[in-house]
Amino acid sequence: MPNKSLHTVWHRATITRQRREQKNAHKSVVLWFTGLSGSGKSTLAHTVEEQLFLSGLSTFVLDGDNVRHGLCNDLGFSDTDRKENIRRISETAKLLLEAGVITLTAFISPFKAERATARNLMPNGDFIEIYCFCPLPVCERRDVKGLYKKARLGEIKDFTGISSPYEEPENPELIINTSQFTLEESAQLVISLLRDRNILSAVE
Ligand code: ADX
Repeated sequence: MPNKSLHTVWHRATITRQRREQKNAHKSVVLWFTGLSGSGKSTLAHTVEEQLFLSGLSTFVLDGDNVRHGLCNDLGFSDTDRKENIRRISETAKLLLEAGVITLTAFISPFKAERATARNLMPNGDFIEIYCFCPLPVCERRDVKGLYKKARLGEIKDFTGISSPYEEPENPELIINTSQFTLEESAQLVISLLRDRNILSAVE
């Protein structure tokens, strides 16, 4: 999107990300959960957050349904609106990353290009893509919110997996088959990845 904010000058903060990370005694990172509606993104993100928060870490979840009640309540589900939704979330996640927070985002984020743009906004290694894989028939059987039924009946249009595409990640840092692992096992996979990458440890 072209920058219309002309004549603005970047102000360099003295309280830097590094200083915040030192104070927190852990690194910040963006954990980007992607997958179909009903694949378990939000549930998993909140479960991981709960564990990290209880360990005293600084965390925040940006959740698709919630963000669409506020920041993105002017957006629908056309391709254009989904792209703008993901652009705003990416920029928000980047701010939280700068704020020293372990940020977990739970959005369908169906398009490869927007996920790549989100990744490229962050410094190398600070964007961890987690694909919550769950076969469409399983998501549809779960139908926690009753939306798949409505989509099949044509009452909701542009529904991901039914009448709108989902482009699978090619090289995510982690793939979790949420139809095979329990919630606890899935959360453990994410936490192990964070440990392996030394994100939970104090910063030099
Ligand atoms: S995204 O495609 O722009 O990333 P987002 O994650 O914000 O989507 O919102 C998805 C949530 O909105 C779903 O979990 C579901 O509850 C709800 N929803 C309502 N309409 C649709 C639709 N047409 N397609 C997908 N999800 C929808």
